Parts: sequence; structure tokens; C-alpha cells
Amino acid sequence: MQKFTFYCPTEMIFGKDSENQTADLIKKYNGHNVLIVFGGGSVKKSGLLDKICAQLTSANLTVSTLGGVQPNPLVSFVNDGVKKALAEKIDFVLAIGGGSVIDTAKAIAHGIQYPDCDIWDIWTKKIALTKTTPMASIVTLAAAGSETSDSAVLTNEITKQKRGLSTPFNRPCFTIMNPELTFSAPKLQKACGCADIMMHTLERYFAKETDNYMTDYIAEGLMRDVIHYAPQMLANPEDYLSHSEIMYCGSLSHNDITGLGRTKDFSVHKFGHELSAKFNATHGASLTAMWPSWARYIYKNDIDRFAHLGNILFSISETGEQGAIKTINKMEEFFYRLGLPICLSQLTGKILDETELKYLTDMCTDSNQKTIGSFKPLNAEDVYTIFQMANH
Ligand code: NZQ
Ligand code: ZN
Repeated sequence: MQKFTFYCPTEMIFGKDSENQTADLIKKYNGHNVLIVFGGGSVKKSGLLDKICAQLTSANLTVSTLGGVQPNPLVSFVNDGVKKALAEKIDFVLAIGGGSVIDTAKAIAHGIQYPDCDIWDIWTKKIALTKTTPMASIVTLAAAGSETSDSAVLTNEITKQKRGLSTPFNRPCFTIMNPELTFSAPKLQKACGCADIMMHTLERYFAKETDNYMTDYIAEGLMRDVIHYAPQMLANPEDYLSHSEIMYCGSLSHNDITGLGRTKDFSVHKFGHELSAKFNATHGASLTAMWPSWARYIYKNDIDRFAHLGNILFSISETGEQGAIKTINKMEEFFYRLGLPICLSQLTGKILDETELKYLTDMCTDSNQKTIGSFKPLNAEDVYTIFQMANH
């Protein structure tokens, strides 16, 4: 194993009825005035929001709610949420939803500590984040892994930038993970979630550092689990076993344990974020539209690693270049079978024009001012070529 620091303090409460512990946990983390953040209404429809509000109120916690977070959540919504939280003297933020809601709640929790600042200044690091407000989540979709990750991703609708912020202050105090709460999520969102979970692992698996065997085994085991259970979950909307396996994978894939001892790559996420910012694409789908082209462009960087992964995940017996290519083909097929796009026309409904490809390249590389990724750092020319390869 190579050197690493692993800090993941989030208390994870997993299993049926785990949401019944919410009030006790908020008290444990010194919450009194709670802001519940939620999305477009699924938690109202399911009755979960009412159930949690009633539980907190009867435990003598003060509760207010903020609904309306949209997928690819917006900075302006966060700034408004901070104003509301300050006016109501909120001291604990509880997200009930998927990654978009959890990321919004993280940002509001930070904003409470920086009353006079635009939250985007924290995201662009003009203001250094050194404190936050306690926050936690009740997860309703297995996907982004935000419930234990050190990351939160926001979109600035004015500049059309989608950016993540990684900081230990993004780790929630606790997270409630009842797989049954994910049953009602739309099939496409579940599929996108599975893709995102795979991608959080792949983005760490392909790294320049070697000799991290335990990390490899964890990553490979996790991906095998997703490949096995994703189709079962999509075919059976109320199957506890598959939903629980995928939910656990979702958190592990992005709390860093699948990448210890290695540098993260995250080029495909960079492509995906720019596609989401421009076309409002769903996160998981934006990744599967780009991963095959990224992989075909860079696999020669470490042919044996691609072939090895194919052997572990898909029992591919060929080694060397043939094995590597088969691995990429099989991964692409897996995403396609989940009903996800594997190229840009399937993602956006059209072939992109030259101006759009150049725009995306500039956004990824700050107009050729920086490279992205670490497994094989990509400059603007590389990025443009990969977008071109995916543009069919
Ligand atoms: O808004 P509601 O009504 O709740 O509906 C949501 C939303 O429309 C719906 N949904 C979620 N759980 C449901 C449900 N519908 C019915 N029943 C349920 N149980 O699903 C839709 C998508 O929700 P969203 O939160 O956007 O999905 P996801 O969890 O995939 O999060 C995506 C966001 O997370 C970011 C992405 O970029 C994207 O903005 N990410 C955050 C990361 C992090 N913080 O560590 C890492 C990821 O790489 C990712 O970038
Ligand atoms: Zn992701």
C-alpha cells in the first residue's frame, strides 16, 4: 500500500426503519433548530417528509422546511436558502433526498457561517472555508455518494459552470440509509445512480500509482457487486436485497475507500459536469456518454490494468491489448443495457457542432490553461479529441 490519509467521520445508520432514529441523532449532534432541505416533491408524495417533521417536532426540535432543489442544483437556490436559514436561526441542516439535495444542504450549512458572502466565492475558493454548521442526510437515491463524501457540486446558472468543492467540512455528521426509501425513485435515476457508483470507483481505479492491492480488491469487489445487482434492482423496483447492495456500494464508492493510496483521476466527471452545465444532462448519463471514448483514448497508458479489470469483472480471458479493448466494450455494453447513453447524440439528442465541442473543451481546460485528470493528464487537444470521439 502507498501512503494515504483516510478521514470519513460520518456516522452511517443503515437498514429498514433507520429513519426512526433521526431526532435522536440530531440531538446527539447538538441540533435544535432544524432546516429540512428537500427536492421537487418526491418526499412529500411518499409521506417521508411529514413523517420526519412529526418525529422531530414531537422530540421538541424546531423544524422548518425548504423544498424545490432541482437536479444539478443551483447556487442561487443555495444563497436564498442561506438567507432563510439565518433568519430562522438554524443550527442544523437535514437533507432528505438524493445527491442534489444533500449537496444543497451542505452548501447552506457552510453559508450560515459566512452570512455576507456569495456561496460561489467559496466554491471558486475566493473565500477559504474553515467552518460549517452540522448537517446530515436521509438518502432517497443510491447514486452520488454525497452522504459520506467530502464533495458537493453546484451549478452557477449565470456563468454556466458546474463545479465541485472537496473539503472535510463536506462530510455530514450522520447519514440515514434505509434502502426501502429508494424503491420509489424513477428507473432512469436508479440506472444513472449505478453508473455514477461505477464511475466513482473507475475514476480511482485508473491511477498512476501501483501496489495498492487491498484498495484494488475493495474497488473490484464493489464493481462486481454493482454489475451483478444493478439489473436485478432495475427489474424489481421493490427488491430489498439489490437496493440494499447498491445503496451500500454508493457510499463506499465515493467516501474514498475505493481509492486509498492512489491519486483520483476524475476526467470523465469533468466532461460530465460541463455537459450537465450546458445541456442540463443527468449526472450519471453524462458520464456513461463519455467514459467509453475516454477509455479508448487512454487505455494504452496501462493496457494490462484494463485487461486485468476485464478479467475480474467480465471473465475476459484475453490479455494485453485484446483484453483491454474487450474490457472497454463490455463496460460500454453494461451501461447500454442499463438504458444509459454511450455517446453524445444519445445524451443530448443531437450531434454537437464544432462551436459546442470547442466550448466544452474550453470549459474543461479553462481555455487550455490547465490539464485535467492524473492517470493521463489531458490537455485541450486531448479533451477535444475525446469529445469528438464521443460525438456520434
Ligand atoms: O427532487 P425529487 O422530487 O426528490 O426527485 C428526485 C430527482 O428528480 C428523484 N428522486 C430521488 N429519490 C427519489 C426520487 N424520486 C422518487 N423517489 C425517490 N426515492 O431523482 C431525481 C434526481 O435526484 P438527484 O438528487 O439529482 O440525483 P443524484 O443522487 O444522482 O444526485 C446528482 C447530483 O449529485 C452530484 C451530481 O453532479 C448531481 O448534481 N454529485 C455529487 C457528488 C458528491 N456530493 O459527492 C459526487 C457525484 O460525482 C456527483 O457529481
Ligand atoms: Zn459522480
